Amino acid sequence: MDWLRHHVLAVFVLPGLLLSVLPAQPVKLAATPPMGWNSWNHFNKNVDDATVRAQADAMVASGLRDAGYIYVNIDDTWEGERDAKGLIRPNSKFPDMKALADYVHSKGLKLGIYSSPGPKTCAKYEGSYGHEEQDAQTYADWGIDYLKYDLCSFRDLMKEAPSTEAARQMMLDAYSKMHNALLKTGRPIVYSLCQYGNDAVWQWGGSVGGNLWRTTGDISDRYSRMAEIGFAQAGLAKYATPGHWNDPDMLEVGNGGMNLEEYRTHMTLWALLASPLLAGNDLTKMTPETIGLLTNHEVIAIDQDAAGLQGDRVSAEGPGEVWSRSLADGSKAVGLFNRHPQPLEVLADFRQLGFNGPVHVRDIWRGHDLGIIQGEFRTKVPGHGVVLLRVSK
Ligand code: GLA
Repeated sequence: MDWLRHHVLAVFVLPGLLLSVLPAQPVKLAATPPMGWNSWNHFNKNVDDATVRAQADAMVASGLRDAGYIYVNIDDTWEGERDAKGLIRPNSKFPDMKALADYVHSKGLKLGIYSSPGPKTCAKYEGSYGHEEQDAQTYADWGIDYLKYDLCSFRDLMKEAPSTEAARQMMLDAYSKMHNALLKTGRPIVYSLCQYGNDAVWQWGGSVGGNLWRTTGDISDRYSRMAEIGFAQAGLAKYATPGHWNDPDMLEVGNGGMNLEEYRTHMTLWALLASPLLAGNDLTKMTPETIGLLTNHEVIAIDQDAAGLQGDRVSAEGPGEVWSRSLADGSKAVGLFNRHPQPLEVLADFRQLGFNGPVHVRDIWRGHDLGIIQGEFRTKVPGHGVVLLRVSK
């Protein structure tokens, strides 16, 4: 009996003890591109506590949370004044930020917030300049899980630098400073850099602690702007890795300025680009079409693929473009895009994608298998639309 007790102890209890004394593994932040919602694109300066709670409720009720959308991100205009100790307080739109975080967490979601390394944010609210450690600690105390840090008025400070190189270094230092402040809190907080893609941020965003970095100026709810941003991401794939993502800005799906084919292009391109998927619409007022676009699980699986390899352009013939992304299981997601407003036949050459023999082809948005194909695939693509394939040996 004694012998048995000893061995039971050795096999079951000791490993448990061992685990409890080993330091916890650091959480891999943003191992896949962050998914969630952000207030800016739809609510702009009108975001408040009630809006955020309603969006969190809708995220659950609509099925978005279960599809992977987790972060509820408050963008600019929540900031109030600093108190006598210099601690930032929310303005009257957000009576109790900790209570709001508790509410969002109780839904199985996470809460994000926004600030600037400059004295003022882009909407001219209080920024974090000179208060970085205090602000990071305040966010941690509230239970914040995500920070978007937007350059804004820091650019005015950079103008005082003696050279462009010195100005650039100031910016990098400012981003590192907040990263270190976030680390010091001990709370895992996703760090999202927003400086509009200046100075090839993709080359250094990771080195200043960014989990993602905006590669462009602001998106808007028009096909021309979305396409200008999305298709300009060619060549950035090599800078994305798990925990470090290129960010071509938040989604406009469901905001009403694009048609179904255009929003399908938006979602498809963002998934091929391993982009963060931050819905930017009002989640309490979604049509079944919008929910379908945002929650297609095969499209989300491409965006969230564990290998974290961003896709890139393979070929272009006028407005017809083929983009492809390698996936963890050896298959490829392939988008045949038509940037022309009228329908166009687009050709994908599977040999160019590394498939010399016959391949299985699935049409993702139509949700059906196209069978076995070899060599080339041609299809009519609607104006401003896309056909998304998953191709495997
Ligand atoms: C900048 C950012 C936007 C948004 C606004 C808020 O323009 O790029 O995404 O955060 O500021 O003022």
